[in-house]
Amino acid sequence: MALAAKIPQPQPRRLTILGSTGSVGCNTIDLIERNPNRYEIVALTANRNALALAEQARRLRPSLAVVADPDAYGALKEALEGSGIEVAAGPQAVIDAASRPTDWVMAAIVGSAGLESTLAGVRQGAVIGLANKETLVCAGDIFMAEIESRGATLIPADSEHSAIYQVLDQRQADRIERIILTASGGPFRAFSRDQMAAVTPQQAVAHPNWDMGAKISVDSATMMNKGLEVIEAHHLFPVTAEQIEIVIHPQSIIHSMVEYVDGSVLAQLGTPDMRTPIAYALGWPERIEAPSARLDFQSLGALTFEAPDFERFPALRLAREALDAGGAAPAYLNAGNEIAVGGFLDRKIPFLAIPEIVETCLESAPGAALESIEDVRNADTEARRLATARLGALAAG
Ligand SMILES: NC(=O)c1ccc[n+]([C@@H]2O[C@H](COP(=O)([O-])OP(=O)(O)OC[C@H]3O[C@@H](n4cnc5c(N)ncnc54)[C@H](OP(=O)(O)O)[C@@H]3O)[C@@H](O)[C@H]2O)c1
Repeated sequence: MALAAKIPQPQPRRLTILGSTGSVGCNTIDLIERNPNRYEIVALTANRNALALAEQARRLRPSLAVVADPDAYGALKEALEGSGIEVAAGPQAVIDAASRPTDWVMAAIVGSAGLESTLAGVRQGAVIGLANKETLVCAGDIFMAEIESRGATLIPADSEHSAIYQVLDQRQADRIERIILTASGGPFRAFSRDQMAAVTPQQAVAHPNWDMGAKISVDSATMMNKGLEVIEAHHLFPVTAEQIEIVIHPQSIIHSMVEYVDGSVLAQLGTPDMRTPIAYALGWPERIEAPSARLDFQSLGALTFEAPDFERFPALRLAREALDAGGAAPAYLNAGNEIAVGGFLDRKIPFLAIPEIVETCLESAPGAALESIEDVRNADTEARRLATARLGALAAG
């Protein structure tokens, strides 16, 4: 079983948050501030939002605050002048921050940019709260092997995978029949392809149930998010790709389910608030309090379910194909998607061009297995080049 258990850690737990200024990062900090005696902060990192990072650092008093973008260094340094908090900048500085001795790391950078720093946390044998699903999509085999060999512990923070982790009986892994990932269906669940052709970034980021960063919100709208989650689940849990099913559940109350060979289905439920799965990862192996609204079953009304539509949401098919193809395909899928989503958010291409760009990338993905992080980085770079070229052609009309 890939998800190794580890001996409970002494209090207070030392924490590092990679991507502290993002949606998951801010939710993590909200929980930390509600449980102040439990935690001691080692490092906080962001990309370029120096002022938000400095403000968090002054409240949480880490020993180090880092921006990945060197251009943001001056602003961070000035904002933390006289605070006694060390500051640094650049992608390597983020990796170095994740390498500082700590007990627990929240991996909440968006995209494959979070790969090396998340791995640095793994390499020091820390407990990793994993939100950054792109890491597992690009480099799942390498990442899980590192977890095993370094004695690190991976606790999923993605709500679906947290749900599965909570109801999956690790002692009976061979008694699992299937994993059922629930999906809200996103803001365009009931849209025709014609309607999707005209949607704006503003409509795409307005998720009906969850408040998230821009990239994952667009991924939810194309349903690529669920495709990435299928690949993530395949690496995290002892099931084949065929044993992972998707069901549309528009209310986002059931966060996912595990079915066993006796027909029992175990589910984890809760209101759609990321602070519940993050609290599970943050407190593990204990549960800590989270302020998420409680379910009121008497006023909940109906919980409904639908089959996913692979025609209207081709990203679901593409992710399955990438998982089946293996080799560099998942890394190409991810990189192509990151470029395409960026192009859509920048209003260079229409919504429906996103899966088109991803498909172009996938067609060129080499079949050989990625053996090292360098292989993953090269695949990522090449796929970005292909996707950028296709995006340029589409943008030029
Ligand atoms: N949001 C959710 O509810 C949710 C749920 C499940 C899973 N996830 C996953 O969690 C991850 C984070 O999502 P999010 O919604 O929190 O994203 P987000 O709001 O966009 O935040 C991303 C964070 O990463 C930092 N960052 C961006 N690019 C970076 C780079 N090149 N190098 C270093 N840091 C960088 C950002 O810094 P700046 O602020 O300076 O830009 C920010 O702190 C994603 O993988 C997502 O799929 C999110």
